[in-house]
Amino acid sequence: MKILILNGPNLNLLGTREKSVYGSRSFEDYYKELEEAFPGLELSTFQSNTEGTLIDKLHEVGFSYKGIVFNAGAYTHTSVALSDAVKAIDTPVIEVHISNVYAREAFRHKSMIAPHCAGSIIGFGLESYRLALLHFERMKPKQV
Ligand code: DQA
Repeated sequence: MKILILNGPNLNLLGTREKSVYGSRSFEDYYKELEEAFPGLELSTFQSNTEGTLIDKLHEVGFSYKGIVFNAGAYTHTSVALSDAVKAIDTPVIEVHISNVYAREAFRHKSMIAPHCAGSIIGFGLESYRLALLHFERMKPKQV
């Protein structure tokens, strides 16, 4: 069961970027823990700071993979193109955010992609990713 964790802009800087908001752990380090925790999922991960590259990745996996966990970073709040891409694909997408965007600036309160996602997991630190993977792990075979 192939699952992609897709990270958008600036998430390559996790561990060094705004530690008080995003923590001091790199995604690479956390991802190793996820791989160990979900041996039944064929996990892969991809990060890009570029909107078009994220769209290309959604198109590439979005008709064959069983799930996508997507942190679109700041594009969450601005990108009609990413919203359209999430809507266009067949694979269910779970939106995740490390921080509680609703407790932050008003411009972070709007998600362009949320209406086209299976659900959103927001504000649990890096563990937001694990909670999304738990959903895919627990999906019954006929649903995936
Ligand atoms: C984020 C929240 C966004 O508002 C922000 O632009 C990010 C990270 C999060 O995971 O909390 O880059 O998506």
